[in-house]
Amino acid sequence: MTDLELPSYLDQTDAVQDRFTRLKQRPVILEVNNLQKEFETPQGQVVALNDINFKTHRREFVCVIGPSGCGKSTLIRILAGLESKTSGKVLLDGKEVTGPGPDRGMVFQGYTLFPWLTVKRNVMFGLELAGRGKSIAEDEARQWIELVGLSKFENSYPHQLSGGMKQRVAIARALANQPRILLMDEPFGALDAQTRAKMQASLMEIWKNIDITILFITHDLDEAVYLADRILVLKAHPGEVQELIEVPVPQPRTQEQLLSPEFLATKKRLEELIHPPETEVEINEDHMNMVRMVPVDDEVGSVF
Ligand SMILES: Nc1ncnc2c1ncn2[C@@H]1O[C@H](COP(=O)(O)OP(=O)(O)O)[C@@H](O)[C@H]1O
Ligand SMILES: [Mg+2]
Repeated sequence: MTDLELPSYLDQTDAVQDRFTRLKQRPVILEVNNLQKEFETPQGQVVALNDINFKTHRREFVCVIGPSGCGKSTLIRILAGLESKTSGKVLLDGKEVTGPGPDRGMVFQGYTLFPWLTVKRNVMFGLELAGRGKSIAEDEARQWIELVGLSKFENSYPHQLSGGMKQRVAIARALANQPRILLMDEPFGALDAQTRAKMQASLMEIWKNIDITILFITHDLDEAVYLADRILVLKAHPGEVQELIEVPVPQPRTQEQLLSPEFLATKKRLEELIHPPETEVEINEDHMNMVRMVPVDDEVGSVF
């Protein structure tokens, strides 16, 4: 299909439009107002995030995308309460976030399981910390482990699992505490393409079945379009919101949609925002003359 045949990423069918109307009527779970983050470095001040504003609604799946260094990890760490902000407000269920809390579940790219605990013990850990008795924690942990498809491995240790399986445990562990929002920072970034596709499909399945809002950071365009209801596109230096895109691809998603016109149109828009065409580099004639003075080894022949 050529570009000319693609619809605009802004075109929405009636069904998709209705879905967004309903989505925006749902309660706001996370609200970010005028968020600013500056780092003082020996080289001077770095504005990591400049005047970030957005809202996510209950059971919405939001992807955050942008080039390396645009402040994605800084944003999610502030939302998690792991990093201070310079100014602005972060509200979860209308209450200001001032530090970490069980209302937010985190899944990072690096594997963060306790290596000395089994899968089941890893998932039980937060539940016991929250005051559940051992047998209740065990029952609940088993249900979450089943949800991520790892029942057969509940007594395995992290080193016995593949990368994808470890991330499944991390998701079960985060969900077991029943957070209001799941914050995921490039969780599938270290996985091979095939495992990654499987993990994306599993995460969609989980999201469909439980009451959870997801904020998912990625720099993979296909991943963002496949997963998200809306995509928050950031730009770098300073980290700012470029656009909040309503993905016009119908839900529920399937792998076949990766080639649909709506999908490709959205991906094309992301490409325009994230990889704008390079400005033409002017070649300095004097410099070319100097280069020509360097003898060319005839053995090499023409490069064309
Ligand atoms: N602790 C820090 N001290 C100084 N600068 C930082 C720190 N953390 C991040 N930065 C800077 O803030 C910007 C955003 O970083 P980051 O949030 O990691 O981006 P991303 O996750 O999008 O790649 C970068 O310019 C980075 O160098
Ligand atoms: Mg990052």
